[in-house]
Amino acid sequence: MNIFRVKSIQELQQEARDNEKLKRSIGTPELIALGVGAIIGSGIFVLTGVAAANYAGPALTFSFILSGITAGLAALVYTEMAAMIPVAGSAYTYAYASLGEIIAWIIGWNIILEYTVASGAVAAGWSGYITDILRSAGITLPASLVNSPYNGGLINLPAVLITALMTLVAVRGTTTSAKTNKIIVAVKILAILAFLALGIPRVNPANWRPFLPFGVSGIIHGAAIIFFAYIGFDAVSTAAEEVRDPNKNLPRGIIGSLAISTLLYIAVTIVLTGLVSYTSLNTPSPVTTALMAAGVRGASFIVGSGALAGLTSVLLVTIFAQSRVFLAMGRDGLLPSFFARVHPRFHTPWLTTILVGTFVAIIGGFLPIGIIAELANVGTLSAFFTVALGVLILRYTRPELERPFKVPFMPWTSLATMACTIYLFFNLPPLTWLRFAVWMVLGLIVYFLYSRHHSLLAKSEENPPARPDFLPKFPFKPLFFPRPLSAPLTLRLRMLRRRK
Ligand code: ALA
Repeated sequence: MNIFRVKSIQELQQEARDNEKLKRSIGTPELIALGVGAIIGSGIFVLTGVAAANYAGPALTFSFILSGITAGLAALVYTEMAAMIPVAGSAYTYAYASLGEIIAWIIGWNIILEYTVASGAVAAGWSGYITDILRSAGITLPASLVNSPYNGGLINLPAVLITALMTLVAVRGTTTSAKTNKIIVAVKILAILAFLALGIPRVNPANWRPFLPFGVSGIIHGAAIIFFAYIGFDAVSTAAEEVRDPNKNLPRGIIGSLAISTLLYIAVTIVLTGLVSYTSLNTPSPVTTALMAAGVRGASFIVGSGALAGLTSVLLVTIFAQSRVFLAMGRDGLLPSFFARVHPRFHTPWLTTILVGTFVAIIGGFLPIGIIAELANVGTLSAFFTVALGVLILRYTRPELERPFKVPFMPWTSLATMACTIYLFFNLPPLTWLRFAVWMVLGLIVYFLYSRHHSLLAKSEENPPARPDFLPKFPFKPLFFPRPLSAPLTLRLRMLRRRK
C-alpha cells in the first residue's frame, strides 16, 4: 500500500464542494479578527514574563522580532497554499496534495499539538488571570481548585469551565463564533492599547539595563519559547470553506492579522520591560504585575480583564480550528467518519468540536502551562516547515495551477522559512524534542494500525497508486521508496538491459 499517495488538488476542491456544506458567511474583517483572536493570547499575556525573566531579559523585543520573522515567512507560504487550495484542513490538506498521505497524517497529528495542546495552555493562562482579578477584588479561590495536580492542586477548574463555555459557542455556529470573536478581539486590542497608554509615561530606561543579561543565545531561546505567541494566524486558513471569497479574503486575513499582532507585540514588550526589572516579571500575569509595580493599581484591573477577554478568543478560535482539521481528516477516512459529521442546523462539525473541547479541558485542567506551550511550539514549527516544503514542491511539479497569491522570491522564501523553523526547533529545550519524538511514534502507530487501512484515497485506488508528482522522473528516483514506487525504475533498467 502506498503511503505516499497524494490527493489531486482538483479532487480536493471538488470534495469541498460536494461535502456536507459549511456555511460561507465570513469576510475579510471577520478573518482578520479570527487571526488576531487566535494569535494574541497567552504568548503575550503570560509567557512574556517567563521569557523575559529566564531567557532574554529586556532584549525580549528581539526575540519577538526573530519569531515574528519566522511567522511572517510562514504566513506567506501559508497564504499561497490557502488561496490555491481553499478547503478546511490547512497544513494537513496542503501536505496531502503535495507530499503524500503519510506526511499529511504526521502534520495532522502535529496540528493536534498546535491547536488542542495550545488551547490547554491558553485555558490555564486564563485561569491565572481570573484568579488574580478575583483576588484583587477580595475573592480567593481554593488553591486546590485553581492548580493542576502538577502544581500541587487537584484540578484547574476555571480552565475547564471556560473551555466548556467556548466549546458550546463553537458548536453553536460559525456566524455566532465569528461575531462573538469580533467583540472579544476589540476588547483585547483596547486592553493592549490601554496598557501602552498607561505604561509609556511610566517607562524607566534604567530597567532596560543590562540589555542582554543572558547574551545573544538568550534572545534565540526566548524566540523559540515565545514563538507560541504567533501560533494561530494559520487558523485563518482552516476557515477556508466558510469564507465568502477565499481568493481575496484569505491572503488579507492571514497577512493582516499577523502584521497587527506583531506590531502590538513589539510595542508591548518594549513597554513591559521598561516598566519593571525583567527579574520581577516571572508571574502568571506579567502585564498586570508590571502595571501594579509601576503604581497603576485600578487600571491594571481593566487591562487584566482585557487580557482575560484576549485569552478567551484564542481558546475559541483554536477549538474552532482544530475541529476543522479533524473534519478534513475524517472526510479522508484517516479518522473515523463521525469527525466529519456536520450539524444539520448549526452547520458546524459539532461532535468533533465537543471532542476537541473535552481534550482541551483535560489538558488545561491537569497539566502545567510551560510544558504544554513548548509542545505546542514543536507541533507548529513542524507544520510550518512542511507547508514551506509543500509550496516549493508544487511550484515545480504543478506550475500550471492557478495561484491567486504567489509568494515572492521563491524558492528563497520557502527555504528561509524551513531554515528558520528548524533553527527555532533546535533552540527549544531538549526534553521537548523527546516528548515530540514520543508523540510522533504514537502518531505513526495510529496511522499504521488504523488510518492507512481506512484511507478513502487508498480505497479508491484499486491498482497500485500513482507515484507522487513531486518525485523526479527516472533516472533520479531514490531507490529507498517502497516497492510500488520503485517498480518503474526496475522496468526501465530491464528495458535498458534488453536494448544492450
Ligand atoms: N498565539 C496564541 C497565544 O499566544 C496561541 O495564546
